[in-house]
Amino acid sequence: MLARVTLLRLSQRSKCISTQTALPGFSRNLSAISRQEGVIETDVPHYTIPPSCYYEPSHHEIEKEAIFEKSWQLAGHVNALVPTVGSVAEVSVAGQSIVLTRGSDSVSAYHNVCPHRAHELVQPGEKRQMKSKVLTCPNHGWSFKATDGKLVKARFSENVPDFCSKDFSLFAVPVKEVRGLVFINLDTSDNIADFEDTFGSGFDQLLSEKIPGLDSADMKQLAVKEKVVNANWKVLVDNFLECYHCDIAHKAFVDMVDLNNYATYLNKQHIMFEATCKPDNKAYSFDKDDLLQTAFFCWIWPYNVVYSAPGSPNMSILQFIPISPTQTLRRSERFAMIDTSSTSSGDGAAESESTASDAEEAALARVAYLNQVLLEEDTGICESVQRGLKSKAYKGGRLMVSKGGEMEQKWHTEIAVAHFHQLLRKSCNIP
Ligand code: FES
Ligand SMILES: [Fe+2]
Repeated sequence: MLARVTLLRLSQRSKCISTQTALPGFSRNLSAISRQEGVIETDVPHYTIPPSCYYEPSHHEIEKEAIFEKSWQLAGHVNALVPTVGSVAEVSVAGQSIVLTRGSDSVSAYHNVCPHRAHELVQPGEKRQMKSKVLTCPNHGWSFKATDGKLVKARFSENVPDFCSKDFSLFAVPVKEVRGLVFINLDTSDNIADFEDTFGSGFDQLLSEKIPGLDSADMKQLAVKEKVVNANWKVLVDNFLECYHCDIAHKAFVDMVDLNNYATYLNKQHIMFEATCKPDNKAYSFDKDDLLQTAFFCWIWPYNVVYSAPGSPNMSILQFIPISPTQTLRRSERFAMIDTSSTSSGDGAAESESTASDAEEAALARVAYLNQVLLEEDTGICESVQRGLKSKAYKGGRLMVSKGGEMEQKWHTEIAVAHFHQLLRKSCNIP
């Protein structure tokens, strides 16, 4: 049986409400979420931000500085980026090329540029294992300690007057690892957003609880898919943040999830959704004994999503990466825990092999549905909305947020979109 929990929080300045339908296991964490700021008022009308924010180049420039370069951005999962000590990888974060290195205790991040004459330290998309503990620039051979970026050697610098090695370290970038998820923040100022304050102290625990195996070395990357969508990144986020369109656009999805138990949890800079699912459905089938019987999504400001789908332990990273005011790179990475080592000889060998292959088949069927069906069903919607936003007649829309928050327990609420737009207004001073 599902437990319904409704929380109401009143602040001195404004009447704020956080109302949710809680699933078993979630209610324990719900109070921690609701104590944080960021819930929105529901007794005032909510409208979308102005349409011009979705296509004006000048607004896109404002967003680069105010949002993309100031927020904690998900770079990926260590298993796909820097899986072992001594791994190095290049990754693009908010339009900047970043080098990640993995030491024995932590992951380090630097701008991918040599402080000598600006050669890139590693090639775009490169991933490899370092032979030593230093990163060497391919241009003139300066070398840097991989774990702290300090200059180790600049050939012939002993002949250069007043050359001070300390002045030529790599440009470090703030990095935070959360249960295998690597977050980067390009803001190196003293005003950088505090990670714990931004996401809440229970964020990592909640993620690992909802995505079993999240920080396991066995959580393996199965597929990466990238597609350019002709729409502003916020159109894709808006679309992701509501299920109001689900019964129209995603027939198989709504056959799998129980819309009567679709819950939304607002937080300051992330929003979680969870719904119970049924094993026999038109999306993809899973076993009633599989560990995951719910769909769980966590959107992370500004355009990253981490989620798990029903079935055996799995994880997806979904990103809506801005390319231009009217184009977005939609990138999905699919991971799963599949034990392919259970093929040892002995009485149970044949059965084990068949189980491993069944699990792999089920994981691939899930990936096929998520990538080829569910994501694609949203492509046309987003591109149509983008064209519509440029209509002279359209000035903005009213969001489906109900007075008192009664409707926020329902699958068709647009309260998460309203929350996203509040964050946008605050970040970019949108009236
Ligand atoms: S540019 Fe890197 S060593 Fe000269
Ligand atoms: Fe959708």
